[in-house]
Amino acid sequence: MTRSKGILKRLANYLGFEVYRRPKDVGARPHSPTTNRQLDLSRAHLITDAPIENLKDVRFVERLLLQLGLNDEMLHEFPGELHQYTGQGLLSWQYPNQFSRLLVKLSEYPVRSYMEIGAHHGGTFVIVCEYLRHFNPDFETALAIDKVPSDSLAKIAGTYPGVEYLVCDSRAPECRAFLADRSIDLVLIDGDHSLDACMGDFELVRDRAGFVVLHDISSTVCPGVCATWQHIKAIHGERYDFFEFLDQYEDVYRRTGNSYMGFGLAVRRT
Ligand SMILES: C[S@@+](CC[C@H](N)C(=O)[O-])C[C@H]1O[C@@H](n2cnc3c(N)ncnc32)[C@H](O)[C@@H]1O
Repeated sequence: MTRSKGILKRLANYLGFEVYRRPKDVGARPHSPTTNRQLDLSRAHLITDAPIENLKDVRFVERLLLQLGLNDEMLHEFPGELHQYTGQGLLSWQYPNQFSRLLVKLSEYPVRSYMEIGAHHGGTFVIVCEYLRHFNPDFETALAIDKVPSDSLAKIAGTYPGVEYLVCDSRAPECRAFLADRSIDLVLIDGDHSLDACMGDFELVRDRAGFVVLHDISSTVCPGVCATWQHIKAIHGERYDFFEFLDQYEDVYRRTGNSYMGFGLAVRRT
């Protein structure tokens, strides 16, 4: 075991959670060279035009997410039956069976502003904004952060009113300075998936946001996020109500023996 792995394991033991070992043959999310993909933003109208009653129906939203289009990086994480929907549309890097349930849960709350750390191509970002606009007519601002510049995110920021796009490492002082006076209702953390970085992102936003979502809380290949989520639940149990969206696809589990993705939602008690 290397020195850094030893420290990580000792820290995890101290905090009382398990360290998952990343299988050698599976690449770690989310390092991808393909950051400059074009999104078909016209598909966003499928959300805009949908009746609000349908958007509270998990099955409708799950089907809608397929029509909106999925990402095709790390394709082995997606079940065969969904491959026909990948590589097109908004390229959202999500499991529809998890994302639909998260969105329907979020529709219960007042959310006027949203921030995504690790917005990648911006597909999930657009979907969350368009979805929440239905339920919150006063939805005002959204901020996408990613350390790798993306043409599609620049286009999104230029297309939608109230949208800002910050090309920045979330751990950098510039990012902290940018957020200094801001509070944001809802934050999705999906950037650097290591324990230190994910914990750092949570610390960055926890006093600014009433709703914090972590992505990859049950992914076998993202032990740092799993550990961060367990830590938050163990340490901040009095501050938040917690919800988890962990559905898997049988085909993937059969092929890989792994579980992937998974959302954790922490809702601050008022
Ligand atoms: C898995 S992708 C995010 C997928 C996106 N949220 C979605 O649902 O479509 C992770 C992204 O995090 C970005 N990232 C990694 N470390 C980061 C950091 N320290 N600060 C900001 N962005 C980071 C990567 O450039 C990448 O685009």
